[in-house]
Formats: sequence, structure tokens, C-alpha cells
Amino acid sequence: MAQQVRGVIAPGKGQPVRVETILVPGPGPGEAVVKIQACGVCHTDLHYKQGGISDDFPFLLGHEAAGVVEAVGEGVREVAPGDFVILNWRAVCGQCRACLRGRPQYCFDTHNARQKMTLEDGTELSPALGIGAFAEKTLVAAGQCTKVDPKVSPAVAGLLGCGVMAGIGAAINTGQVSRGDSVAVIGCGGVGDAAVAGSRLAGAARIIAVDIDDRKLETALRMGATHTVNSRTTDPVEAIRELTGGFGADVVIEAVGRPETYEQAFYARDLAGTVVLVGVPTPEMKLELPLLDVFGRGGALKSSWYGDCLPSRDFPMLVDLHLQGRLDLGAFVTETIGLGDVEKAFERMHEGDVLRSVVVF
Ligand code: APR
Ligand code: ZN
Ligand code: ZN
Repeated sequence: MAQQVRGVIAPGKGQPVRVETILVPGPGPGEAVVKIQACGVCHTDLHYKQGGISDDFPFLLGHEAAGVVEAVGEGVREVAPGDFVILNWRAVCGQCRACLRGRPQYCFDTHNARQKMTLEDGTELSPALGIGAFAEKTLVAAGQCTKVDPKVSPAVAGLLGCGVMAGIGAAINTGQVSRGDSVAVIGCGGVGDAAVAGSRLAGAARIIAVDIDDRKLETALRMGATHTVNSRTTDPVEAIRELTGGFGADVVIEAVGRPETYEQAFYARDLAGTVVLVGVPTPEMKLELPLLDVFGRGGALKSSWYGDCLPSRDFPMLVDLHLQGRLDLGAFVTETIGLGDVEKAFERMHEGDVLRSVVVF
């Protein structure tokens, strides 16, 4: 039977979001209903609201969430009612060509719940990234739930479901940062700071944070950066080379998503080094590089989707490291807010002093 709960809806392109009653169906085969305890406000939610992702309004926003499984449908074995879980937006299928080759982190056929959540009048909702967790309860595919140690605070755990995982994974999975490496991170918002924290966790010897905003550089230092460069006033390529014996960094992580910062990343790495693009560009952006430099500088130019994470492998591991005091995920939570405050949180995003606002239920 469907349940009535409150959720945050984006009704139409550019319109303010509002809290409405939504209907959450009971879980069908392979599905789970999760009682949400916390959900972070991500830029992607704002992009949905602005119509930048698709026109399938109304959206049920929210996707960086943790909560407790309330009920599961037929055939669900991966989780059970009462499990504390982090939601992910890439439930792997196990059968596509990537999964069959043992690379499920690239799964090309990830899935979501089949049934739709609706408004009271029956209007179907499009859940953000197949999750929709600015709601007291949401319906997902059971594979979107990853069980983790319930000792972690939900507000912290939920962040691993998107931006923080993307950043940490860009460093430890995609960039394969390891002990003694030099790393530069260009763009130190939530994702870039997570890449800094991930690099520290991996044992990087030198972590250079680059941003155009000094406040962001301050935060990056707290996350583990060893050096900072304000690229508004200093050429970041020269500065990174200077800080790495004149050579460039072993791994440079681009966490802005712009051609000019990508170019900086490309030239700020050492010969045979790695560039990781985790910032997401927009469709009109183009990149022009001398092909000879692409060849001659060698190494690897990689993109990082969701930090190339495998939720079942990475979420419990990162929660455990956090609980051991080796990864301060709490530092990413700037403020906790109520369900009615999401619109205000979007406004605060622009002011640049918030890493994450987290809705707590
Ligand atoms: N050079 C360096 N830093 C820059 C530049 C630039 N030209 N332009 C912006 N920045 C910095 C901003 O000052 C900010 O600190 O990049 C950071 C971007 O951070 P946020 O806006 O908080 O975004 P975040 O959530 O970290 O996401 C970054 O990763 O997953 C993607 O879609 C996401 O493309 C976005 C990127
Ligand atoms: Zn697959
Ligand atoms: Zn997100």
C-alpha cells in the first residue's frame, strides 16, 4: 500500500522548490522503501531545478542520503528491514558487458525502482538520480542500498552517496594515488576537498590545493592540503611545478569542469603523470591541445564517474576509516537544516561558504 510522506518537489524549470505530500508505493520485486534520516544538498539538485538535466518535471529532489530500510519487495536479498544504508545512484546490473568482465564500477546498465512515486493527484515524479531523498521515505532498487556500520552519523554517511565519494574516488580509485605521490587538486569545493582528503588517506606526500577563492584554500588545508595556490593571482602550472622540484605533480585532479582548468591540469602534471577529470563540463565546452603534447607527455588522461566507486566495496570501507578517526567526513557538513530549507540552501551555495548543507529528518 502506498504511504503519504512529505518531500521536496521541483515543480518546473527555475521555479522555487516546495514541500508537498507524495505517495510512496510499497516495494515491488527487487525494490526497497527507505526511511531517510539525512540527505545532503548537492549542485546536481540545483541543476535539476534549473532544468539543466532534463525536462521531466516535477522532480523529487535529493540524492546524497542515508537511512534505514523499512520494507523490501520480493526476491530482495542484499538488504533487510532495519538495515542502516547509504543510497547510491549506480546499482550495478551484474549482466552488462562491463559487469561480465569484472568491472562493475563501470556498469553500463545501472537500475532504479520500477514503480513511480507520485503526487496526491497521481502525477508521476522523477526522482533525482533515481533516488529522490528529500523525503521522509523513498522507493529505490534494493541494489541502491549499501549497508554500513550504523554507528556513523546519518548526516555524514549520506554524503558518501555522491559528492564526497566522487572526490575521494577520483583520488584513490581513478587517480590511483599512492604513498609518496605528489597530487594537485584544482577546484576545492566539496568534490575537490574530498579529493584532497582521499589523497591524504592514500598517503600522498604533497597535496597542492588550487582555487580562486582564499576561503576554499583555508578549508582545503584543514582537509589535508600541504600547500595552496590561489590561481587568480598566481599561475597554477608554474606554482605546481615549483612545488614539485620543477617537474609537475604525479596526479592532478580537475574538480571544476572547465577547459581552462583542464588545460592547467594537463600541463601541471609530471611526464607520464595522470590527469583525472571529476568536474563535469557543460555541452558547449571544447578543449584544444597540441596532439604532440598529448603524446609526448605520456601518462594517462582519465575521467572519473562517481569516483569510479563500487558502493559495496567503498562505502563500508570509508565509513570504517571515518569511525577509526582516519578520515574526517564530519568536516564536510557545514550545517544541518530542515526539509523546508532546501531553497535557502540553494541560495547559500552561491555564496561559497558552504561545503554541504544537510537536511536532517
Ligand atoms: N580555477 C580554480 N578553481 C575554480 C575555478 C577556476 N577557474 N573556477 C571555480 N573554481 C572553484 C570554486 O571557487 C569552488 O571552490 O571550484 C570550486 C567548485 O566547487 P563547488 O562549486 O562547490 O562544486 P563541487 O560540488 O565541488 O563540484 C565540482 O565536480 O562533480 C562535479 O558537477 C560537479 O562540476 C562540478 C565539480
Ligand atoms: Zn552492469
Ligand atoms: Zn550529487
